[in-house]
Amino acid sequence: MLARSASMRERIAMYNANALKIGVFGANCSSGRSATKVPERWSASWEDCLALARMADAAGIDFMLPIGRWKGYGGETDYQGATFETVTWACGLLAKTERLVVFGTVHAPLIPPLIAAKEFVTADHIGEGRFGLNLVCGWNEGEFEMFGATLRDHEARYAYAQEWLDVVKLAWSPREDFDFAGQFIRLRGGRAYPEPYGGTCPLIMNAGASPTGQAFAIRNCDALFSNVSRGISFEETVQHVANVRALARQCGREIDVYTVGVVTCRPAAQEAADYYRHSIVEHADWAAVDNILAMKNITPQTHSPEEFRRIREHQANGMGGLPLVGDPDMVARDLAQLAAAGLTGIAVSFVNYLDELPYFCAEVLPRLARAGLREEPGAI
Ligand SMILES: Cc1cc2nc3c(=O)[nH]c(=O)nc-3n(C[C@H](O)[C@H](O)[C@H](O)COP(=O)(O)O)c2cc1C
Repeated sequence: MLARSASMRERIAMYNANALKIGVFGANCSSGRSATKVPERWSASWEDCLALARMADAAGIDFMLPIGRWKGYGGETDYQGATFETVTWACGLLAKTERLVVFGTVHAPLIPPLIAAKEFVTADHIGEGRFGLNLVCGWNEGEFEMFGATLRDHEARYAYAQEWLDVVKLAWSPREDFDFAGQFIRLRGGRAYPEPYGGTCPLIMNAGASPTGQAFAIRNCDALFSNVSRGISFEETVQHVANVRALARQCGREIDVYTVGVVTCRPAAQEAADYYRHSIVEHADWAAVDNILAMKNITPQTHSPEEFRRIREHQANGMGGLPLVGDPDMVARDLAQLAAAGLTGIAVSFVNYLDELPYFCAEVLPRLARAGLREEPGAI
């Protein structure tokens, strides 16, 4: 039996030999991460999610990361209006796959920690150690109102999440019944069996971007997801990754750093650029994009026209992920750059995951393998 303190490093795909891990991001939501009106946009039906998971599993993709979204963003497509709840979604996919890690993305303030801890253990047993937790604190007030919950101020969100995660970890540890007396959470006689699968704990990630959010991840998580796309240079990315790792080491911990991208890969660079323009610019669901931006107080009133236009286009494509647009050589080169910057991996989305993943796996993954960044992919 493995040491519990070892987290999951010994047992799952996130800790395989691939130097650059690749995951699929956002497939539990209608339209995925592309606010586009093109008819081939992602359905997020169960049938499609399952087919995607099986395809990804067979092709050597390392993980699937869903989005914790409860309410669509409107517009012509009601962008991300139909979403599968992520832990139950993960359970279904874990039952039907063999290798990849499937995350649940969970809003800590919306679910009591002991129920959450038991759900995660259930998913982890179904997946024989392949469940991962993406803990989020929330930012969308409208979603919280729907639950009768209040979105705390930013600092308090993470203070609450700390107590919540402390309780989840207590519930995962074999011990006597426990009490917990925090500022927000108080419970007595806590008990939760069975333990997570195989005597280790599910991998935990967080995507905090603020100093408080990043400090939370560094203190508590195995992985930090950072958006490194907004005009951030290679040197800045190197610096960011090095800082995060150094801060973790100061706490006696190791942390992996991942980022997020949106892939438009076609045999010819021009073809990829054309499809990007067609789906993301000419057929963007701008009303949905503007709704999201308004929730973040990004409007023509708060930003210059040029800046607003740039953010708007960025948001339409994968809600701000790094655009990876080009032929397989270009996409593989951009991915290799991320690895060179010290990133552990990337979670990517496509306009239509099922249509586009086979080409990506057939052409880009072998190039990464030849560059020494991944093992030879399996055949789809
Ligand atoms: C890869 C990634 C995944 C995220 N997933 C979600 C999500 O599913 N639901 C959500 O409400 N927020 C999600 N977020 C938002 C983050 O949890 C976080 O709130 C955001 O990056 C702002 O950072 P801050 O909380 O430190 O201000 C995600 C962010 C990233 C970069």
